[in-house]
Amino acid sequence: MTSSTTQPTSNPATQDSDFLRACRGEATSRVPVWFMRQAGRSLPEYRRLREGVAMLDSCFRPDLVVEITLQPVRRHDVDAAIFFSDIVVPLKAIGIDLDIVPGTGPVVAEPIGRREQLERLRPLEDGDVEPIAAAVGELVAELGPTPLIGFAGAPFTLASYLVEGGPSRDHRLTKQLMHSDPVLWHELLGRLAVVAREFLRVQVEAGASAVQLFDSWAGTLSLADYTEFVAPHSRTVLEGVAGLGVPRIHFGVGTGELLGTMGEVGADVVGVDWRVPLDEAAQRIGPDRAVQGNLDPTTLFAPTDVVHAHAARIIEQGRAARGHVFNLGHGVLPETDPDALTRLVEFVHGYELD
Ligand code: CP3
Repeated sequence: MTSSTTQPTSNPATQDSDFLRACRGEATSRVPVWFMRQAGRSLPEYRRLREGVAMLDSCFRPDLVVEITLQPVRRHDVDAAIFFSDIVVPLKAIGIDLDIVPGTGPVVAEPIGRREQLERLRPLEDGDVEPIAAAVGELVAELGPTPLIGFAGAPFTLASYLVEGGPSRDHRLTKQLMHSDPVLWHELLGRLAVVAREFLRVQVEAGASAVQLFDSWAGTLSLADYTEFVAPHSRTVLEGVAGLGVPRIHFGVGTGELLGTMGEVGADVVGVDWRVPLDEAAQRIGPDRAVQGNLDPTTLFAPTDVVHAHAARIIEQGRAARGHVFNLGHGVLPETDPDALTRLVEFVHGYELD
């Protein structure tokens, strides 16, 4: 990570927060914790606010984005806020016809599979996402010392939605394109990398003090295919924001075999799902990077003492890494009892690190 020059949230208290310290591999007095999808349907106050407003419409309304992002920070006392948005927001912003269908996910009107369709994926310009920059600016003012994490979808995960036209179990069409027309594939991912990089840059320049690149579906690939067809483009995104001076978190699901490479493409922190213990993950990632994770989100449906036993194990295993940010191994499930999350934050914060 390079030192900060253009990053406007040089609030010393933010920079000295446990979350940013752990991302940088510095000592912390307690383990920082936040949750992927901490904002969202597990919170009744979120469901009330979203009534009658479509998901994508809410992402372009700064008043809603600010309030929804703050809700879990107020309720759970987490160490970081994650910007309320979605990975498909920058695609919508450059004019791709898509929607987020409740209970399903992103659905693309005209899936991409041919060269002439690539033109639709033009670079993102600042003017496309003014409401996003405005919301980030307001949030940073409201959050005070609490860091705000900006995020983007990684080129592969975005490509999967664009090529399949929606969520997919086996990513068949995506892999078919990758293997049958590698030239078109690399052009597609190259364009998506520029969109993702610019979306991160806008958020950091507006005040986000860390970024996370979500490659949620990268775990469906072999290491060989990931390395050849995906890693160069994720590197474009992560190296492209290196100069902004904020920690870069790189996350995917089922990525046990990819962890080392996901670190090497330009991450300061590697997100780990629950399948690989953090001490083993730290071995695979190497000594130069921190880890984030990795409680199985379904564990939160178990009795509190079971949840806390798993959390204690994860904290102990995380000590093998250069730094540890506690999180789930994937997003909060909508059915989760929010009080279980609040209790988990209390437990992690109260855990004695000797
Ligand atoms: O983490 C947070 O609290 C920030 C908000 C956030 C959302 N989406 C809000 C959202 C983040 C970081 C995302 C990223 C995202 N979106 C990913 C990567 C993370 C992951 O979960 O792997 C992916 C794959 C998407 C695509 C997507 N958008 C899916 C699969 C869904 C769920 C569809 C459903 O209804 O079950 C969405 C919609 C979405 N994005 C919701 C939220 C809160 C639910 C929509 C609603 O509340 O109506």
